[in-house]
Amino acid sequence: MTTYLVTGGAGFIGSNYILYMFHKYSDQIRIINVDALTYAGNLENLKSVEDLPNYTFIRADITDKEAITKIFEDNEIDQVIHFAAESHVDRSIRNPEVFVKTNVLGTAVMLNCARAAWERADGSYPAGKRFHHVSTDEVYGSLPDDGVSYFYETTPYAPHSPYSASKASSDMLVRAYIDTYHFPANITNTSNNYGPYQFPEKLIPLMINNALHGKPLPVYGDGRNIRDWLYVDDHAKGIDMVGLYGKLGETYNIGGHNERRNIEIVTTIIDTLLELLPDSDPRKKNVSRDLITYVEDRKGHDRRYAIAPDKAKRELGWEPDTTFEVGIKKTIKWYLENEEWFSHVTSGDYQKYYEEMYHT
Ligand code: NAD
Ligand code: DAU
Repeated sequence: MTTYLVTGGAGFIGSNYILYMFHKYSDQIRIINVDALTYAGNLENLKSVEDLPNYTFIRADITDKEAITKIFEDNEIDQVIHFAAESHVDRSIRNPEVFVKTNVLGTAVMLNCARAAWERADGSYPAGKRFHHVSTDEVYGSLPDDGVSYFYETTPYAPHSPYSASKASSDMLVRAYIDTYHFPANITNTSNNYGPYQFPEKLIPLMINNALHGKPLPVYGDGRNIRDWLYVDDHAKGIDMVGLYGKLGETYNIGGHNERRNIEIVTTIIDTLLELLPDSDPRKKNVSRDLITYVEDRKGHDRRYAIAPDKAKRELGWEPDTTFEVGIKKTIKWYLENEEWFSHVTSGDYQKYYEEMYHT
């Protein structure tokens, strides 16, 4: 049985990954979820697995060396899947320090503790040990709006936001461990995820939540920035496939060739809400294209992201299963059926952040 230590498992992608893994492997795996439960961590996402005997939650901060050391001492960990991070670009522009602390120092602590637990006296590692660092395509910077250039694994790093700079630093630490200690690790750099349980500070859930409440839909700049969208289960599948078929030490880009301008995403959300909501639903009257409001651009706003997933396809056989058309409908349906989840996470703290960020 493989024991996974998942960091940040109460967040958006981490919780979807845990659900995906239990759905696929059931009692063949053990998962220990380590999460500090910041504003972005929500154990409600994992209600359906919390009583499983092969699932354990430990509340700990990845920058706390003692706590992480103890977890490795108390458990025979085979694989670390490292999601825990501060993940929102706008927050990093307002408050960069916590991004450096969690994303850089936290990754250094995780690497050190894993190495201390796994490395043999002769510098080798037992078979089956692997540290999977979950990273982002934002480390590569911004692409021209030409529709033909892509991010490859070999694209030089050029991060622009404090968030992407901190993720680039953490990637470099992982690479340094691979080169210096022959540390058994992989990195994946993935494009924008969407799906259930995403915190409504991010574009898609924010627009759905605002539209349902008849609140303005704040589009940054000219709304023509491009992101490359991937359904979150396809990301989980990619991470799993790296563990099954990837070569240790390698980096894989994961993305499904789903480029969309932000304004297209917003209009698709409005149109889909109008299509899915029955006339009898009182929320329907709130939803309208008139809510679209162009606001001041994000500082240093990257123009275009687009992943070339050729290596993942060639070497792992990875391909996304969910098209954008299917995925966005599924996602919107989920938020419509789980509005309670929205109201639980949009607590006092989030309200305060929202008011400061959007001057409402
Ligand atoms: P998220 O913000 O939804 O979740 C982050 C999780 O990490 C939360 O549960 C939070 O409580 C936890 N956490 C934060 N600081 C911690 C700390 N110091 N110690 C322990 N736990 C801590 O993030 P997400 O969108 O799920 O992203 C997960 C990972 O995937 C991140 O590393 C992010 O950089 C990367 N990524 C995200 C996307 C995306 O589109 N969201 C795309 C590519 C890569
Ligand atoms: O590319 C992967 C990255 O995708 C991840 O590494 C990050 O963790 C994740 O947050 C995401 O970053 P983005 O900055 O691309 O995502 P966000 O949802 O914040 O914004 C998507 C686009 O929408 C971006 O061009 C900014 C724009 N936007 C965003 C918000 C929140 C708006 O126009 N209005 C908004 O209110």
